Amino acid sequence: GTATIRATRAKAVADVPPRLFGSFVEHLGRCVYGGIYEPSHPTADEDGFRGDVLDMVKELGVTCVRYPGGNFVSNYNWEDGTGPRDQRPVRRDLAWHTTETNEVGIDDFYRWSQKAGTEIMLAVNMGTRGLHAALEELEYVNGAPGTALADRRVANGIPEPMGIRMWCIGNEMDGPWQVGHMDPQTYATEVERVAHAMKLAESGLELVACGSSSAHMPTFGTWERTVLTRAWEHLDFVSAHAYYYDRGAKSFQDFLCSAEDMTGFINTVAACADEAKAANHGSKDIAISFDEWGVWYSDVWNKQEADWKAAAGEGLHPEPWPKAPHLLEDIYTAADAVVEGSLMITLLKHCDRVRSASRAQLVNVIAPIMAEPNGGPAWRQTVFYPFAEAAHHARGTAFAPIIDSPTVHTESYGDVPAIDAVVTWDEQTRTGLLLAVNRDETNAHDVTIDISDIVRSIDGSPAAATTGDTITVTRTQLLHDDDPYRTNTTKAPQTVVPQEFTVTADAQGHLSCT
Ligand code: AHR
Repeated sequence: GTATIRATRAKAVADVPPRLFGSFVEHLGRCVYGGIYEPSHPTADEDGFRGDVLDMVKELGVTCVRYPGGNFVSNYNWEDGTGPRDQRPVRRDLAWHTTETNEVGIDDFYRWSQKAGTEIMLAVNMGTRGLHAALEELEYVNGAPGTALADRRVANGIPEPMGIRMWCIGNEMDGPWQVGHMDPQTYATEVERVAHAMKLAESGLELVACGSSSAHMPTFGTWERTVLTRAWEHLDFVSAHAYYYDRGAKSFQDFLCSAEDMTGFINTVAACADEAKAANHGSKDIAISFDEWGVWYSDVWNKQEADWKAAAGEGLHPEPWPKAPHLLEDIYTAADAVVEGSLMITLLKHCDRVRSASRAQLVNVIAPIMAEPNGGPAWRQTVFYPFAEAAHHARGTAFAPIIDSPTVHTESYGDVPAIDAVVTWDEQTRTGLLLAVNRDETNAHDVTIDISDIVRSIDGSPAAATTGDTITVTRTQLLHDDDPYRTNTTKAPQTVVPQEFTVTADAQGHLSCT
């Protein structure tokens, strides 16, 4: 079939927020130990961080990293990860049933972030702890030298305040799996107290309340309304989390159209935030922090957990508590990359409301970067590529184009346009990006694209006529495989990689491709 994509200035969404290209590092499996940190690795630096992984994180273009969880944070003592390494306590982590050695903590992660050039988005424990621990951590992390906790940080080798602005007040507190999970009213009361006190301690913080763990939670909507109405004054963001995978969808075609679910999720949360604003007679909007998104074969973990519980049987058992086991090490297909590209397009098309996002996670655990153990190399999964293109090239303003496309039929979302797209344009550098996806499981489509209204100079004349320049296509990348289930592997990491392809263009911004 044939599709048309027309981007106009009237369809400007918002400026592209740099935090949209965030990621997530949780103390889970081999994300930290054997992922970002592996002192015995040949590329490890003086702090034990893998240089090959750091290089790949930069290549991915990550801007901001959420830390240290995830479910892990809800039974975590942040102090355990500070001070001399050999004196740090070894603990049991209830979330992933593993042994946490605390070799890496906030001080170490701060050092890593400096090297990676990434902002930190820090989560506090609202499961086994709450207000007091959050305030203490804030003082330790951001306090000016001269008070007890800030001085402890200085003594631990970090003289300057870390300057962490964005804080998540707990993680997935609506989820029955979460240590210390709460009902909406209880969490609303708690988050209001914590956010209020944190902002007394420090102005300029950006605080994120837990939203729903997915749009399919029984309390979805009620949770957001209750929490945001109660704590509106002190909040800046509400979180949203969504994972998709082939076997979790009604059909392969439905899986390819997972972005429809994300779109509904964003619209509903934005409506709840607006309702809370109105109920408070307020003027400020609460933005969405889509701080966990991506493809996750969650049935594998669910089965692992169920098998392990079944094997335990009746009575008391000494449970296994492995250190940094291989957990959630999903190997992604070409189709997974198509879906993740489509989710990235969705985030950009809604960046007026979604002002921050973290693709979950960064290394080894549901990750674009895999780090082989025992001195082995790091390599890129299929999902690395759509993220990297967006992170490196989406600048300026995002535009949601008018799209006329053949449709595909899905059980979950009805008839859905096969083609989706977003355009970004940076007037300062006069460069732009078109991200487009074909979600049709069987057919290729010819696409004509008109960005002439965006690229014309501000005085209204066509770009080529006023500047003498022509609009040129400087880079094309197509991620496609005839076998949608093809993956990259340790041995063949370059199997599914983007290729240059043909895009024809005229000087005024009319393009076409298949
Ligand atoms: O990213 C894996 C897990 O997914 C996180 O720990 C949790 O927040 C979510 O359920």
